Amino acid sequence: MAQTTSDAHILVSMTYVSRANQDMSPKELGEILQQAQDNNATNGITGILIFNNSIFLQTIEGSRAQINRLLYSLIADQRHHDLQLLETRELEYREWPKWSMNYVPPTKENAAIYLKYSTTIDFNPYLLSAGSARDLMSELSIQQI
Ligand SMILES: Cc1cc2nc3c(=O)[nH]c(=O)nc-3n(C[C@H](O)[C@H](O)[C@H](O)COP(=O)(O)O)c2cc1C
Repeated sequence: MAQTTSDAHILVSMTYVSRANQDMSPKELGEILQQAQDNNATNGITGILIFNNSIFLQTIEGSRAQINRLLYSLIADQRHHDLQLLETRELEYREWPKWSMNYVPPTKENAAIYLKYSTTIDFNPYLLSAGSARDLMSELSIQQI
């Protein structure tokens, strides 16, 4: 479908959770990250990807047209499933302009930050409100600088 001029100028972000397929290896995770960073650098998409306990939590930000296009790819991607949207919103400015995709690994330090925003010991962003997910990701991204 043709991209309208107005779509290309509206900055949005989308946050979702999904479950990695059971046989996801570190190599496969690395390939996903590389693919995300390469494509996003070309498409003007930025964001953050958190992976822990076999669950992805990702925010992507960019033009509304690009973000909608990527959503279709993500839903069709066989490397994860059970994709649920936590939030989509229009932005005045990007939260992560420096990162084509900032990866946040599961570490001890990060576990304490997950717990700060969670009711459960295990990282389970399916249970997070959009606001908590946003605050969690802001705090985690500061750790990665
Ligand atoms: C958890 C997860 C996160 C992903 N994040 C991105 C992303 O940020 N950008 C992107 O282009 N592709 C991302 N992908 C890959 C897309 O689902 C899709 O495979 C890719 O965009 C297709 O790229 P291609 O058209 O160059 O083959 C992600 C995949 C997974 C499983």
